Amino acid sequence: MAERSCFNVGLVGARGFVGKELLRLIGAHPSLELAYASSRSLAGKPVEGAGMTYIDSEPGVVGRDADVIILALPNNASGPYVEAIERVRPDALVIDLSADRRFDDRWVYGLSEHNTEAIRSARRVSNPGCYATAMHLALRPIIDLCACPPHCFGVSGYSGAGTSPSDKNDPEIVSGNILPYAITGHLHEREVSRHLGTPVRFAPSVGGHFRGIVLTALCELRDPVSPGDLAARYERAYAGCPFVRFDAPGPIDLRGVAETNGACVGAISVDMDDPRRVGVVCSLDNLLKGAASQAVQNINLALGLGETEGLA
Ligand SMILES: NC(=O)c1ccc[n+]([C@@H]2O[C@H](COP(=O)([O-])OP(=O)(O)OC[C@H]3O[C@@H](n4cnc5c(N)ncnc54)[C@H](OP(=O)(O)O)[C@@H]3O)[C@@H](O)[C@H]2O)c1
Repeated sequence: MAERSCFNVGLVGARGFVGKELLRLIGAHPSLELAYASSRSLAGKPVEGAGMTYIDSEPGVVGRDADVIILALPNNASGPYVEAIERVRPDALVIDLSADRRFDDRWVYGLSEHNTEAIRSARRVSNPGCYATAMHLALRPIIDLCACPPHCFGVSGYSGAGTSPSDKNDPEIVSGNILPYAITGHLHEREVSRHLGTPVRFAPSVGGHFRGIVLTALCELRDPVSPGDLAARYERAYAGCPFVRFDAPGPIDLRGVAETNGACVGAISVDMDDPRRVGVVCSLDNLLKGAASQAVQNINLALGLGETEGLA
């Protein structure tokens, strides 16, 4: 598909935290052009720097000319838009940022680093959740060594809860605070367990900062491992991955990734008293590698563009 030099992108749900990041990334991308941006509450208002106004969000908008349609809508809202796409623009590349397609085998799971070949030929891509991306990046290189379900603990900035007012994004409540929630059965626990093909345990919390996730994964392996062998696995897994930086000793923290398009994995730890017990940390910006920049990375792969185009 890469013969063409420019592709039109329709963005549905452009007002949200993720939508805003997508507008910025599309605006700076040399091979993508914004065809339209939709929002129910901003319809008729100018899209900053894009020379157009927002159009209303309703399923008919997807009929407008676009090679790529990005759905940045809340969970359980994309159904009518996908139905309309199948009717009027079945050939478009569609990226759904919500969880609605992450359990649907007809859609390719858009975990760019680990599903690259499938994404290259995909027309329907379901972008992973932000915590889910961090869990996959931390666990995939060693999941085959695990004796039992890994336990993950993550803290996210409150932008992870989107713009609809709730306790989880109310600055009065989250400021200077840490709020654990859904510490069993979180959607991303089911999502990662499904796509890894083995159960994972996950306990999330919301922090008082705006953006960025730090996730710690603790694993019990079947056999003892040395820190060097563990590091070698991660180095092999992420060699040639432009958006994952592996740093064995770390530290891996929030400041290293906030407002960047990539993820950091590392700060690996092996318990010297029981070298079957290991820990690893992943940090990423939930709005970027956890959502918008991973969506653009997937668009690049699916359109046959350079993987880092518009993101370097
Ligand atoms: N925030 C994150 O860190 C993050 C990370 C990964 C994935 N995601 C996923 O990405 C999607 C967008 O997240 P977000 O944080 O940007 O959410 P958000 O800030 O709440 O934005 C939602 C967007 O959808 C529109 N919208 C809301 N309800 C709608 C409806 N019923 N029909 C049509 N449009 C509707 C809103 O604009 P109008 O109300 O003006 O129409 C807005 O543009 C979600 O599915 C989320 O789970 C988010």
